[in-house]
Amino acid sequence: MKWNGLNELREKYLSFFESKNHTRMASASLVPQGDKSLLLINSGMAPLKKYFLGQAVPPNKRVTTCQKCIRTPDIESVGKTARHGTYFEMLGNFSFGDYFKNEAVEWAWEFLTKILEIPADKLWITIFESDDEAEQIWENKIGIPHERIIRLGKKDNFWEHGSGPCGPCSEIHFDRVAGGRKLDRAEFEAEGDKDNIIEIWNLVFSQFDSDGNGNYAEMKNKNIDTGMGLERLACVMQGVDNIFEVDTVQNIMKHVSEFAGVTYKENPKTDVSLRVITDHIRSTTFMVGDGIMPSNEGRGYVLRRLLRRAARHGRLLGIKKPFLCEVADTVINENAGAYPELAEKRDYIKKIIGVEEEAFAKTVDKGSELLAQFTEKLSQENKTVLSGDDAFRLSDTYGFPIDLTIEICEEKGITVDTERFTELAKEQRAKAKADHLAKAGSSWADNSIKVEAPATVFTGYTDTEADSEVLAVYKNGQEIETAVEGDNVVIVLDRTPFYAESGGQVGDTGIISTDADVVTVLDTVKSEGHFMHIAEVTSGSISKGYKVKAQIDVNRRRAIMRNHTSAHLLQYALRQVLGDHVHQAGQLVNDKACRFDFNHFSGLTEDEITQVENYVNNEIMKAVSVTMEEMPIEEAKKLGAMALFGEKYGDTVRVVTAGDSIEFCGGTHIGNTSEIGLFRIVSESSVAAGIRRIEAVTGMGVIELLNSYRNTILKSAKALKLANVTELPEKCASVFAESKEKDRKLESLSQQIANAKISSVFDNAQEINGVKLVSARMDGSAPDALRKLGDSVKDKNEAIIALFAGITGEKGTLYCVCTKEAVAKGANAGKIVREISVLTGGKGGGKPDSAMAGIGDITKTDSAMNEFVSVAGGFIK
Ligand code: ALA
Repeated sequence: MKWNGLNELREKYLSFFESKNHTRMASASLVPQGDKSLLLINSGMAPLKKYFLGQAVPPNKRVTTCQKCIRTPDIESVGKTARHGTYFEMLGNFSFGDYFKNEAVEWAWEFLTKILEIPADKLWITIFESDDEAEQIWENKIGIPHERIIRLGKKDNFWEHGSGPCGPCSEIHFDRVAGGRKLDRAEFEAEGDKDNIIEIWNLVFSQFDSDGNGNYAEMKNKNIDTGMGLERLACVMQGVDNIFEVDTVQNIMKHVSEFAGVTYKENPKTDVSLRVITDHIRSTTFMVGDGIMPSNEGRGYVLRRLLRRAARHGRLLGIKKPFLCEVADTVINENAGAYPELAEKRDYIKKIIGVEEEAFAKTVDKGSELLAQFTEKLSQENKTVLSGDDAFRLSDTYGFPIDLTIEICEEKGITVDTERFTELAKEQRAKAKADHLAKAGSSWADNSIKVEAPATVFTGYTDTEADSEVLAVYKNGQEIETAVEGDNVVIVLDRTPFYAESGGQVGDTGIISTDADVVTVLDTVKSEGHFMHIAEVTSGSISKGYKVKAQIDVNRRRAIMRNHTSAHLLQYALRQVLGDHVHQAGQLVNDKACRFDFNHFSGLTEDEITQVENYVNNEIMKAVSVTMEEMPIEEAKKLGAMALFGEKYGDTVRVVTAGDSIEFCGGTHIGNTSEIGLFRIVSESSVAAGIRRIEAVTGMGVIELLNSYRNTILKSAKALKLANVTELPEKCASVFAESKEKDRKLESLSQQIANAKISSVFDNAQEINGVKLVSARMDGSAPDALRKLGDSVKDKNEAIIALFAGITGEKGTLYCVCTKEAVAKGANAGKIVREISVLTGGKGGGKPDSAMAGIGDITKTDSAMNEFVSVAGGFIK
């Protein structure tokens, strides 16, 4: 058995199966395409399900892949053991109704024993307990001794993962201890539990389609699905006992070790962190490379959780600055040969990870502080459960992830009331959903209504009105025959020019009418092919079967189209100015503005904004025609049309071209860019880590904006009594400077008045045991002035206790000072000021020589001050 590098093993496997007439397919993205049952690709067969199920035709009936996979159910164990990881690559050979058990078994054996030269007596075989056929192949064709073939039950030798293709399987295991051992089934299993014998290859005889609930339907074809963990195989071939010592993975860990200044296998505690980081940075680099962005739900949350967990372990190792974005470099270097997309997206991947690390650093600082307070309080009270409310507060207000709270608490022997936490999180989600539905139009809040009518024909790409028939009318979620004036309804037509909200473009409004009846359409949404007109019967009535005229609000729609086409030009411009990493991350196009979200790591500079704006305006002035065309998806891809990241499209797509911008888009657009008139960016901001938002207006929107600017300028000029608006900037500057100067003079005057007052205050001072007690009310003195005044007294070389009250507007402050000599005689400014302030309903305190407090009710200032002598006197010895 020769040492093989991980990259070498991958290549050997794929070319071996190519020699057996398999087509080598590239690894699919980690983001499942058109498969809602999965968050992330978790096996070689997952992206190929459609071929197994006969829903699509594979490029060849024999396919081989090395697939990037992520499995997170064991995330808690990652790091704690050397065995667990979330990221791995799965080697696989697949037959879609072509070869079956014989070839699958023969080739697996040939690859392991001939190509990799693994000694046959180190390999064990398991089969499904009733699979005589498999046993016969192993024993008679391959020549495996009967006692080295172990029959196991459904738990071990029937492969299924959620729903989809599945079947009995046969596994090949490697004995790490010795060759040719004699073991019975129990001993074999015990050796497996000790990791002395490890499974390396799973051959699934994929015959059934499972619904995930224990129901199995026989598939048309008998298929082969095999899976061999590449890292696991590398462990065997490199003679190491865990994935972290495999060549490429080791290099990643070395990079982490360098940052942390610790060595692997030096200390069990730091080893955990090293492993967590090494595993998680592998998963996350690939996830970001596949277009996943950190977020608070779905796979974005998995990414965020992994990144944050890794970042926290970095902190545990004493790494203070963002480092994961640097380690990502090594992940990319080690894998770019097989996954060139990583190198192409290097800067982007590093930026996204870096931004998330920085955001997390801020969250952690705030959250950890609060959590430490919570846990300290618990330990003072001898309690060991953190309440769900506290955990929720951390997560909701501070963005501190619940799993981190659990992990940190666990380290301190504290459990978290996750039940209550989940309850609160659920409540909040329900509230958010209700808010959303309320906004989406109250009459269509319940989209569980089943519409029986045929799908609506949409005529609104070309027409603004249509002669239609009413197919159904709904009121309060129930289908009705007739709706009358004042009713809020949802109407389904056979054909409609009303665009239904989708792809970020809002739904159309307008009128549905007959000669005698008018229904005002307030919004249009889509529900499985039906266009639902959310409307109010304005006059007359509307019934099923009515022949009507459906007319959209043309002016509003034109404004929407101007904004939508601008959004396309904007995306193109952003890619020109900022780079090809820019992709749409969301948009909202209505008649007022276009709001475009995209991924980019930092705010745009004034100059970048101007460049983007200029680009779009130039395209407008060029007056290029905008074309919309349906075409096969392959053709659209050849044109270089921009698609939405991770979006699933059908075979035929609609492509919108506006100058150089070519996008997949189902929205409505103007016919020529000149119709946009003008384009103006009104704001640029951040919406989430790595996501920016631009809001822009077009056409009349720009005119309105210019008008509002003009009004502001004219009003400002008038307020400053300027005849000529061009003098405005200078005048503003000089008025501001003058006002500052006046403030300064005013302050010095108040100080002078206060100083003058203070000498008279001293004239009237009372004296107790050689300590002078002075107090005064200084109306108009702000806290700062009060402090200056008090501090001038504090430096006097005699025993004085002074209390000043400053009142400005509705607010009041007390400042008490005691000179060194007074403090020596027992005076305490902190205590005195507290006692006096309490009398006004205020609070405060401070040091023995100086202290400040707020006055609660300023009308009580004088009566409280009257108590000064008795309060202060009480302290003097
Ligand atoms: N689909 C099988 C597995 O993931 C090969 O183990």
